[in-house]
Amino acid sequence: MMTDKYGQLPCRAHASAALTGQCRVPGDKSISHRAVLFGGLARGTSHISGLLESEDVMASAAAMRAMGARIARLEADRWVVEGCGNGALLAPRETLEMGNSGTSTRLLMGLVAGQGLRARFSGDASLCKRPMGRVLEPLKAMGARLIDCAPGERLPLTLEGSAPAIPITYRLPVPSAQVKSAVLLAGLNAMGETTVIEPVATRDHTERMLRHFGARISTVDRSDGRHITVTGEAELAARDVLVPGDPSSAAFPVVAGLLVPGSHIRIDGVMVNPTRAGLIATLQEMGGNISLENRREEGGEPVADLVVAASTLSGIEVPAQRAPSMIDEYPVLAVAASFASGPTIMRGLSELRVKESDRLAAILAALETNGVVAQVAGDDLMISGGGGRVRGGGRVATHLDHRIAMSFLVMGLASEEPVMVDDTRMIATSFPGFADLMGGLGARFEPAAEAAAS
Ligand code: S3P
Repeated sequence: MMTDKYGQLPCRAHASAALTGQCRVPGDKSISHRAVLFGGLARGTSHISGLLESEDVMASAAAMRAMGARIARLEADRWVVEGCGNGALLAPRETLEMGNSGTSTRLLMGLVAGQGLRARFSGDASLCKRPMGRVLEPLKAMGARLIDCAPGERLPLTLEGSAPAIPITYRLPVPSAQVKSAVLLAGLNAMGETTVIEPVATRDHTERMLRHFGARISTVDRSDGRHITVTGEAELAARDVLVPGDPSSAAFPVVAGLLVPGSHIRIDGVMVNPTRAGLIATLQEMGGNISLENRREEGGEPVADLVVAASTLSGIEVPAQRAPSMIDEYPVLAVAASFASGPTIMRGLSELRVKESDRLAAILAALETNGVVAQVAGDDLMISGGGGRVRGGGRVATHLDHRIAMSFLVMGLASEEPVMVDDTRMIATSFPGFADLMGGLGARFEPAAEAAAS
């Protein structure tokens, strides 16, 4: 593969003929992280099928190996994990390199906080900018000590856990599954019950999978939100995990299928857990022809095959309450909204500012460079749809953000002029094989190193 003079891998997407065919997206990223972490913590041997073999998940696996778990690939997507047993993780000798992965970092900080060991975390330029105070605050209340950190409680940082941890009741100040999970993981080794209260439900994979591994965990909906309680000094026993297809990855072929005229595609085995399904509901409300077939349960998660046909979309208002169920999908929703007729208003997007990039700023700039009229007011994004037409022709700055790259490559498949993204290397953090999968459906992507270097 040809990088440009900056070591980046630019790519150009061209207007494509109808996308057709059937595909399966890689395993869900959130579930894959948790399978590796919980398998590594449980006593005994767990097998994982459908694991996402992406850079982010491999960062989680490397960290668990550094703390004593044995993790090996048996064959494509099939892994075996020999766990240490709760309370028996070892202090890692080297810095845990988390790459681009906020999920690995925040969940592992939760694990370390309850294990009485010291670990140093570092990451790439994007991760070192992201806020860690949101996890450190409750973890410190649980007895963990922040030994050192970069200014603003950022990586690189060193955390020392306390065993046992102090049980707390913690109301999430931001709707974050990572913060919730960090507190629950520290709570696994606390003396007593640890409760997280979430005013708006976030993805519930930690709760589902901890239960699967034998932890005592209860969820009760009350007037002030969802109360999730884990009982400490938990005995986790090895369990097999089946990882369903990632809805956040399926989002790209889904939106491409809606936008490229004449398309008709089928994506098999996509997880449709309600805490993750906001994009599908939103696109359907916009007039998107998406049907969920063959609904079933796999690995404790609801799954369906998605059938998508090219559609005429109309702009809508997306309420803030829906944001946690589609938080990673706003970049590609912004692309869909650009082609809709009428305005789309997406409310309550403050969390987008602290993702792999400041996604609100990155989306706005990418829309503008492609001739789409959009504005940000407070935490809301308003996009004036082009009624089926978008000029394109822009050069998108991805800021080390995989989802910005994939979203705007999708835009180029249906815009009048090709869309260029400045770097595609980060796509491997969540969706290895993205270009091949999309190419198999008929998407026209072309490496663009020459043009970028000139
Ligand atoms: C994730 C939670 C979300 C999401 C991220 C994965 C998880 O982050 O954006 O891609 O697996 O728990 P926040 O917890 O910051 O919302």
